[in-house]
Amino acid sequence: MLDKKQCMTSAAPAPFANWMLDTNDVTRVFLAASQIPDLINIAGGLPDPSTFPVQKISEISARVIRDHPNETMGYCAIEGLPALRGAIAARYSTTTLKLTAENILITTSGMQGLELIGKALIDPGDLIAGQFPTYLGALDAWRPRQPRYRNMDVHALDFDATHEIQGAKFAYTVPNFSNPTGQLVGAQRRQELALAAAETGTWLVEDDPYGTLNYDGSLPSSVLALSAAQLPSRAYDGTCVYLGTMSKQIAPGLRVGWAIASKEMIKALTLAKQGSDMCTSGITQLITLEAMNSGLIEDLQPNIVDLYRKRRDSLCAAMTEHLSDWFDWDTPEGGMFVWAKARDKRLDTDRLLTLAMEEKVCISPSSVFDALGQHRSAIRMNFTFNSEEKLTVAVQRLARATKRLIEETE
Ligand SMILES: Cc1ncc(COP(=O)(O)O)c(C=O)c1O
Repeated sequence: MLDKKQCMTSAAPAPFANWMLDTNDVTRVFLAASQIPDLINIAGGLPDPSTFPVQKISEISARVIRDHPNETMGYCAIEGLPALRGAIAARYSTTTLKLTAENILITTSGMQGLELIGKALIDPGDLIAGQFPTYLGALDAWRPRQPRYRNMDVHALDFDATHEIQGAKFAYTVPNFSNPTGQLVGAQRRQELALAAAETGTWLVEDDPYGTLNYDGSLPSSVLALSAAQLPSRAYDGTCVYLGTMSKQIAPGLRVGWAIASKEMIKALTLAKQGSDMCTSGITQLITLEAMNSGLIEDLQPNIVDLYRKRRDSLCAAMTEHLSDWFDWDTPEGGMFVWAKARDKRLDTDRLLTLAMEEKVCISPSSVFDALGQHRSAIRMNFTFNSEEKLTVAVQRLARATKRLIEETE
């Protein structure tokens, strides 16, 4: 006789949440990339590991654990360590942008800042006015909350900031060398966005992971600083939320970032963070503080910028030689990416990805930077991770894939 346990048939597990079904074929192609030998991946947005200050961080880690056992091993305040919050406030404060530690929330890197903003602001169906094309990670962070999007082209000649952000819960911009386009939003547009946010009350999320990867010139003022300049002289209480991160300044493995906002918004984000991870790791917060205080970040900067500038130039030179019959692009003044737009709009870049993978190069097609997945005529190419030689080979392979695609469509 069978006992009860043996007779039971096992039921199908309960389904995953509906938003998880909202993936596309491109995600599957990306997942396959790691299995292909000799593939050159210029799809991702990774820093070069040779820039990580391994020795220095090892020394700092040992020191902070020894000197601060409770802060490094215990739970921290949800908002972050007061000393690090104070140091971030001091780093950004100017005569018109007045910040205290209460304007700062330490986050588990930039991605968490985006996620917490979604948690604090978005109800299903709420509208986000997002700089288009839009950072994939932001779309991922907000997808479970089921927002609607209004795509903003902040570089359009007829851009009307008030009209664009009116009625949205928040506007989202990456003004310094955006991901994916690498473009810089100019001073005038920043000012218009800051004014429009104040006028409409719409929150304005300024996401700035790339400001320090600046290869050619100086940067316009941040939207946060412009927003503060319109307000009475007191601790910042405007509608801008600035997100920073150590990922491109030291190393992404630290997972340390920060949000700068009004005290009211910091309280809301803190509540959201409590249910996410309770607090950011005390070890990495103290390492970050020490790296700031010791001048390590400033010491690292010139080498990182020199390395990436050379790689950008190599990628663009190879593109000029091999891809200029089919694509247009601007050489980015900073950041990590070149955005190449197909001259012939029939050149479907999702299909190009499939052919490129056969040629052993992986690129990011524009569809992943569109909440609706409909943009299919551009590609994002990363130049920070691979050597100059590999970037050149990657472009040659991509040219072969493009030629095949053109032949297919003829
Ligand atoms: C526009 C943008 N925002 C935020 C992030 C988040 O980075 P992290 O979570 O490493 O700080 C990235 C990462 O590449 C990014 O490109």
